[in-house]
Amino acid sequence: MGNARDIHKDKLPKHLAIIMDGNGRWAKQQGFLRVVGHENGTKSVREIVEASAELGIENLTLYAFSTENWNRPKIEVQTLMKLLVKSLKKEIKTLQDNNIKLSAVGNLNDLPKKAHNELLEVIEKTKENSAMTLTLALSYGSREELINMVKELSNKVKNNIISSDSIDESIINKHLYTQNLPDVDLLIRTSGEQRISNFLLWQIAYAELYFTPILWPDFKKDDLYDALIEYQNRERRFGKTSEQLS
Ligand code: FPP
Repeated sequence: MGNARDIHKDKLPKHLAIIMDGNGRWAKQQGFLRVVGHENGTKSVREIVEASAELGIENLTLYAFSTENWNRPKIEVQTLMKLLVKSLKKEIKTLQDNNIKLSAVGNLNDLPKKAHNELLEVIEKTKENSAMTLTLALSYGSREELINMVKELSNKVKNNIISSDSIDESIINKHLYTQNLPDVDLLIRTSGEQRISNFLLWQIAYAELYFTPILWPDFKKDDLYDALIEYQNRERRFGKTSEQLS
């Protein structure tokens, strides 16, 4: 079992991203409705956010709701939105106490007004916090993000604001929803699925991928430590040889 003492503070991922999967299966296993899985998932969100802040991880991004999730039964979508509002109201204190800045990526205008307003309010209230940035991906889809980026850049080229020759990685980064975040170093997906599911496709170019069978409502601090210990034991070569790195 992972232990925080075994984690090197100087080798933490600068950006940890998590696909929180398995709430529905967790509920089914226990004979509960799917929404109970989501409710218990919020407890894992709280624990992982606090543990990440405590360790000193600077950027944590959670996949809370994908563009495809709008196709789920209406009652489930409504529950997820209610849980979001409830969690935001409840956890503002946790965010302030831990000096955490809230941010969000995705098509936020798609969110119900209440959820959108609550989100903007917490983002505003925590904007001066500086220990960790917690980014919620809400109504997020990576391909949509990339399409928006291409549209914005082509408009700028058309209007002679930039030349097409000047387009490089840093310009592309500035036109993504994640513009202020570094590349993802470690991507965790729970529940045994080994897919990316349209999450941060550009940003995970060099990320280490970590898949665990644990369902999200069961994913706790020690499981995060396990993932970080494995990450720190992997050699990240960015296309170079081992000899070049040493
Ligand atoms: C995946 O489980 C999880 C989601 C679609 C939503 C994640 C949301 C939360 C953990 C709660 C709300 C979030 C915040 C930030 C307060 P699934 O339903 O796809 O599970 P399954 O694959 O087993 O059906």
